[in-house]
Amino acid sequence: MRSALGRIHGSATSFEFEFVVTNSKNVKRGDYIKVWNDKDGWVLAQVADILAVDNPKLSEIYRSKEVLIAKARVLGKRESGKLRMPTSPFIPGDNVYSAEDSLVAETLGFCEDGVYIGLLGDTGVKVKLNPNTLVQKHVCILAKTGSGKSYTAGVIIEELLERNVPLLIIDPHGEYISMKKPGRFKDNEFGVEPRGYADKIVVYAPPSSPFINSADKELSLDGINLSAEELIELSGLRSPTAQALLYQALRNLKDYTISDIIEEVENIRHSGKWTLIGALSKIENSGLFKSKPTDLRTLLLRGKASLIDLRGIEPAYQNLIVSRVVSKLFELRKKGEVEPGMIVVEEAHNFAPEREKTVATKVLRNVASEGRKFGLGLMVISQRPARVDKNIISQCNTQIILKVTNPNDINAIKKGIEGITAEMVEEIKRLPTGTAVVVSPELDVPVIVRVRIRKSQHSEATSVMKEEEKEKEPVLEENKEEKKGFLKRFFRSRKS
Ligand SMILES: Nc1ncnc2c1ncn2[C@@H]1O[C@H](COP(=O)(O)OP(=O)(O)OP(=O)(O)O)[C@@H](O)[C@H]1O
Ligand SMILES: [Mg+2]
Repeated sequence: MRSALGRIHGSATSFEFEFVVTNSKNVKRGDYIKVWNDKDGWVLAQVADILAVDNPKLSEIYRSKEVLIAKARVLGKRESGKLRMPTSPFIPGDNVYSAEDSLVAETLGFCEDGVYIGLLGDTGVKVKLNPNTLVQKHVCILAKTGSGKSYTAGVIIEELLERNVPLLIIDPHGEYISMKKPGRFKDNEFGVEPRGYADKIVVYAPPSSPFINSADKELSLDGINLSAEELIELSGLRSPTAQALLYQALRNLKDYTISDIIEEVENIRHSGKWTLIGALSKIENSGLFKSKPTDLRTLLLRGKASLIDLRGIEPAYQNLIVSRVVSKLFELRKKGEVEPGMIVVEEAHNFAPEREKTVATKVLRNVASEGRKFGLGLMVISQRPARVDKNIISQCNTQIILKVTNPNDINAIKKGIEGITAEMVEEIKRLPTGTAVVVSPELDVPVIVRVRIRKSQHSEATSVMKEEEKEKEPVLEENKEEKKGFLKRFFRSRKS
């Protein structure tokens, strides 16, 4: 047995106690400790705080000028798979010991062959989460920019890919493409070897993407039965007259393509129709809609991650792609035509914002609330927790929170996470990069995790964005000129 860290002092309950630290080198805030309880055996506790006290009586007993008192929070003991609190209080004078890794892992409920996300606090205990809970009950990763959200999402993606879980990654910055390549470092502390996933990741890009040449496959949609709201969002059509004409045209159509709508609008006798025809032609010419579109079944395949690279795509088109692809996959999943899997949504505040709903909000909400029944999970990632649809966040049973400082985001986290203490909130404000508070239904108590090093290469969103700006701007300008030219030609031909 290791030597004692200290001795219980003052009044103790079965939930908390204080101990005089006799081995000050080995006691830190956050450490896991154990105490023997005659009724319950070894019980796990955690050091919540350490105070230096001026107490002559204790100084005399412990023969030290400076006396340290540690406050401990009892975590309990695992019994028949459940964490239980001891039924009787601890005894003042009893010794407190450092808890061994196996006791910590067992008590906190880590799953032996689970998804390995990192090491627990300062310990060498591997935090492993049950993959079924993680996937089916949804995960959110929230933190301020640069704190390690995408890095952590990459860690989970690696683990799920190794378990052959089908994944769809919505990647607005193309930052997960680098996962094809192995990481540069071998790491002994976390025990991971570099590894690339080129055999498992398939990159898709829409035809108009500036990055279409580097994608593995093109992503196109059928454009059948686009709703008036979708068409208005895509075209940015503001004119109330043109919008009214669109609703009028759609009333007469059943199972239609964009060409069918244009044909219908052409028959309307109203001068306002030209604005609408121009807007609809712009959508038709985006190249996204094809008569032989991508078979969306191929986006959720066992052992594969389909990554949709949305760099350089206008936000309205990004939203439409997410809405159409996710709703189709959900339908297919309900019919059992694709396997259970997970959809990863980066920058979720853009696709499902708390205010101003987008065309993607409804379908993401549906998957969040009903996906688990059908085996379709969501991983939602955002740097602005307060700006993501609350219904979606509240459905994420596993919550991974890295550093957050914005008071609105802190409030959103306080409201959204059950069992989060004021101390945890203070901790979240100060977390170093790559360290997360993890809350999971499997764990009973929130834990602090040093997210493990990546096996595959990580590319930071900011640097990718800079690259994207360089490459995107000229193409988009070109597109604008092309579109302007197209509209001029279009109107000329109509007039003549
Ligand atoms: N667990 C980790 N281990 C080692 N380094 C890490 C870890 N997490 C993050 N980092 C470092 O921090 C950088 C920023 O991480 P990341 O790109 O994941 O931030 P982010 O929260 O996604 O930021 P953004 O909001 O800008 O997308 C990484 O490039 C990496 O160098
Ligand atoms: Mg990121």
